[in-house]
Amino acid sequence: MSKANKISARTSRSNVSPSAKVTISQLPTGVRGLDEILGGGLPEFSFNIIAGAPGCGKTTLAHQIIFANATPEKPALYFTVLGEPALKMLRYQQQYSFFDPAKLNKSIRFVNLTDIVLKKDLGGVLEAISKEVQASSPNIVVVDSFRSVVRKARGKDVMELQGFVQHLALLLTSWQATTFLIGEYSTGEVQDNAIFTVADGILWLTQVTERNSVVRKLQIMKLRGQESVPGLHTVRIDQDGLQAFSRTMGLAGKRDTWKKKKRLSTGIAELDKLMGGGIYEGDNVLVAGPSGTGKSALGTHFLAEGLRHGEPGIAAIFEERPQGYVARAKGFGLDLETPQKTGMLEILYLRPLDGPLGGRDDAGNSRCRETAQGQAAGDRFARGLRDGVGARFPGGLS
Ligand SMILES: Nc1ncnc2c1ncn2[C@@H]1O[C@H](COP(=O)(O)OP(=O)(O)OP(=O)(O)O)[C@@H](O)[C@H]1O
Ligand SMILES: [Mg+2]
Repeated sequence: MSKANKISARTSRSNVSPSAKVTISQLPTGVRGLDEILGGGLPEFSFNIIAGAPGCGKTTLAHQIIFANATPEKPALYFTVLGEPALKMLRYQQQYSFFDPAKLNKSIRFVNLTDIVLKKDLGGVLEAISKEVQASSPNIVVVDSFRSVVRKARGKDVMELQGFVQHLALLLTSWQATTFLIGEYSTGEVQDNAIFTVADGILWLTQVTERNSVVRKLQIMKLRGQESVPGLHTVRIDQDGLQAFSRTMGLAGKRDTWKKKKRLSTGIAELDKLMGGGIYEGDNVLVAGPSGTGKSALGTHFLAEGLRHGEPGIAAIFEERPQGYVARAKGFGLDLETPQKTGMLEILYLRPLDGPLGGRDDAGNSRCRETAQGQAAGDRFARGLRDGVGARFPGGLS
């Protein structure tokens, strides 16, 4: 389909009768945990803003999206404007595991507009973007970094700047492509800048300082057409790029209900009797008490009992070292070494100095969720625990 047809296709869609429901396809983001937060993925043909301060991971997020989606038939165009020179950016981005050099040029094309910005006016930038898009009919268009364009125009006629911003947003919304503007903004600008009203989606990345630790956060500030998980979600960046940890266990109302619940033995017969048969499958149980009263021992017995019944388990420990944990279990006559070797038991050691509790909680939570494959059992880590957490998976490992 030619670009002109694509534009008219998009325009005509808005004229359809209200009774004809349009199904919106979703694009995977390629970011672990993010599709779940978005409610499935990014709506196709949406215009999105990826905002945040320098170093928040905006460019990395956009790269993950294009590498996850671009093909020779459905290519992506990536414009760099002043911010980070394309060559330098690619040098850094190549370090990530998702970066696939085979996709360069055929599926993903990087276009550096810095020279045009320096030599020409803002109109030249719009012209160049339009021309490139008309020529290759991309499915994804990214403009990185937008704020630098605005800064360049400071001191010029404000009308020209506003016109430029609106024109660019209009261009990005009018094409039948999923589009992204990447920029540095402060949260205060959301009220003042018209571009945030035009956008279909706003993904906001931040770095929050909590005591001496810095935690990355992501907020889906806006997402037209679908429900997403609200709030600030923790984000990590490693060699595989961004990873997002949903603040809640996914969208509301999607959890398993009571009818599936059965009792799980704690491994301590008398305690099971006292509790009416054990702990309800899927419950979050806080074991509290002063030092030396047997909290960790109870958790160990619970896990070992599950292992005896062929249920895999995870122990996340914060204070003790895994070797000590296993040795103490041995003292009770419980073997945790063999199940670790066979993959039935995983002991996650989440050191207290690795970041604030939230981050460790999210890491354990995520591992449990991966393991439980959506089961309700043991998929929750309670915040504020001092010792650690144990979870059993009666339905087996994924
Ligand atoms: N392999 C890695 N492991 C952990 N963190 C990494 C790794 N590579 C990069 N980072 C983090 O990612 C950050 C850079 O992310 P990115 O370039 O996507 O940010 P940005 O928001 O686009 O920044 P800018 O506004 O400066 O363009 C670095 O500051 C670093 O903290
Ligand atoms: Mg960047």
